[in-house]
Amino acid sequence: MIKCFEPNLTESDYRKVLDTLKTKVLAFGPNVAEFEQDYKKFSNKAYNIGFNSASSAALLLYRYLYEQYGPCRVYTPSLGFISPVCAAKMAGHEVVYTDVNNNLILCIDDLKSRFINDEKKSIVMPILYGGISKVDEIQDFCSKNNSILVLDSAHCISPTTEYDYAFYSFHPVKPVCMSSGGLLSTNDKEAAEYMYRGRNFGRETTGDTYDLVQFGFNLYMNNLNASLGIAQLPRAKKNVLSRKHNLAFLEENLPEDLGSFTYHDTSSSYYLSTLILKPGHSSAIMRKVLRDRGVQTSFHYPFLHKTSHYRQDVKLKFLDSVEDRIINLPIHQELTKEQLSRIVDECIHYSRSRRQPQ
Ligand SMILES: Cc1ncc(COP(=O)(O)O)c(C=O)c1O
Repeated sequence: MIKCFEPNLTESDYRKVLDTLKTKVLAFGPNVAEFEQDYKKFSNKAYNIGFNSASSAALLLYRYLYEQYGPCRVYTPSLGFISPVCAAKMAGHEVVYTDVNNNLILCIDDLKSRFINDEKKSIVMPILYGGISKVDEIQDFCSKNNSILVLDSAHCISPTTEYDYAFYSFHPVKPVCMSSGGLLSTNDKEAAEYMYRGRNFGRETTGDTYDLVQFGFNLYMNNLNASLGIAQLPRAKKNVLSRKHNLAFLEENLPEDLGSFTYHDTSSSYYLSTLILKPGHSSAIMRKVLRDRGVQTSFHYPFLHKTSHYRQDVKLKFLDSVEDRIINLPIHQELTKEQLSRIVDECIHYSRSRRQPQ
């Protein structure tokens, strides 16, 4: 089976993790601070706080924003992962789902049409879907409307738009691999101090004991995952380049009648190669046809506004029009030329099978 995603693990990762294991320092440890320092090159922010997942970073961030501003209104696309939305709701904020544009990024016109200017603070949380790094229009909207910009950067390792807070995910198949990990980046010193304490149960050390000074929980990045992150970062940009070339190959060779790929900007992490299929095609059928012939593809994500637990009765024109027409093809850095050609052949096979008279 050609997998849709694969981690990039090499001897240098194994050595670094083994060296850390041998120190027996596995929970809190010095690798976390080293990884945070290394991540500055990617985030371009002063404070980089390691967490045990992006979900944990979002959980603490939304709690902090509640303590600062009270209940806020959080605008975020329905095409997203659940945990940041859940984090916002758990903290007491109101979530407003927005539509996306034809690159599957939060649609600015839809945001404008839903935006409410009242005493509630507004937070806009776009997802850097697929790995794109730039959402300048949204940043511009936030600065004109006194809104906080939180980037869900789970797909992108290095956002290039100016932002208030961003969180990252270091899942095994994400652009930086850990068994589980996350990070929050910001220039906000007060928020950063809250995060450092909050990821560690809300503790503040006093002598050989501690006081509990704020909300917190077990959210910290551990030394073992951080060791893997340290070994991964030097190769992260090279892997981006491989995925970029793989996507270019698919773009050149796939039949036009299938659909079109979403756009990536110059600093994109090229995490996903998302094809929006033309009307008449079906993502579910294509995923099954390819899977049966040995090619795994994926679909991110079930629309939140249509899920059983988080549903909202809202009309999202573009999303609703592309339901069952979004598919991600494999472009990961481990693919060989032969595998890429095979992916193209199988897409052509699917496309032809759809053109047969029914
Ligand atoms: C867009 C997005 N945001 C947030 C997350 C949560 O990341 P984590 O698994 O590190 O908590 C994910 C996970 O896949 C994601 O895809």
